[in-house]
Amino acid sequence: MPTEPQSPYLPFGENKHAAWFGKDIISVKQFNRADLEYIFGVAHEMRGMVERVGTFDLLKGKILANLFYEPSTRTSSSFTAAMERLGGSVIPINEVKYSSVTKGESLSDTVRTLECYADVIVLRHPETGSAAIAAKAARKPVINAGDGTGEHPTQALLDTFTIFEELGAGQVDGMTVTMLGDLKYGRTVHSLARLLSLFKVRLNYVSPDILKMPKEVMDEVGEKGIAQAEFSTLEKVLPETDVLYVTRVQKERFEDPADYEKVKSAYVIDPAIMQAAKQDMIVMHPLPRVTEISMDFDDDPRAAYFRQMEYGLYVRMALLAMVLGKA
Ligand code: NCD
Repeated sequence: MPTEPQSPYLPFGENKHAAWFGKDIISVKQFNRADLEYIFGVAHEMRGMVERVGTFDLLKGKILANLFYEPSTRTSSSFTAAMERLGGSVIPINEVKYSSVTKGESLSDTVRTLECYADVIVLRHPETGSAAIAAKAARKPVINAGDGTGEHPTQALLDTFTIFEELGAGQVDGMTVTMLGDLKYGRTVHSLARLLSLFKVRLNYVSPDILKMPKEVMDEVGEKGIAQAEFSTLEKVLPETDVLYVTRVQKERFEDPADYEKVKSAYVIDPAIMQAAKQDMIVMHPLPRVTEISMDFDDDPRAAYFRQMEYGLYVRMALLAMVLGKA
């Protein structure tokens, strides 16, 4: 029997005055520390509800349109699972043929169509800025599930929730986070660096020369007074690292395939390398991984990347409930 949740975070009725009701989620720039505390409070509650009752009727009758112009396994299925765990349903639209939003109105027309049938739209699209364009066209909430090399805000929220749950919320100020791999094309690190700049963290960026963190992101983070440093090898910074955030080299974004070949195996995390790291640190990865983390490391308790996926379910449940006025 589905049970109605009893929680200060999850009221029975729709709360149209709640701060996030009807809002789009386009960029991590929309969030402050108080928002994160609230979202993670709701996500924590969602975790408890899933463990206790599995599925419940908070979003019964609500419909999500899951509109994916780029491949996805985790993001798409976790939004589906999140909606269904909350008693809602999903219109899945996958591998849509991409037509440039700068050349035509097709994306705007598509979201205007979908909002006739759905209450919320989750969008993944290969162009930076596409989520903002969709949000402008739609009256219903649009959630950015990755816009090209731009942002991936729900991933950054789940990444930060993972850090809170694994290492303790009180530990984030003063922490050293090292981002490794493709920092140029990886949208997850663009969002995560921006979001972590709400805390007093130290950020290390380790990448091949051609895959450095974009200046625009570093400037924004720098303006918040965050210490940032760039490296081409991991050795020097690994011993001081509390969170090692590994990324895949984004093959699909390279203009010249020869460049990809040069950097595709630049870093491989394995048990031998990890001997130099602390015992109470974690290794994260948004996944999918290719060769950048050896499978031999998966059984190490510091390997947090599979747990990270599960945290994603609870964060996405929280976000859906919030924009639909139920949290
Ligand atoms: C990431 C993405 O799509 O940006 N994947 C994800 O959402 N978990 C990372 C990647 O594709 O490498």
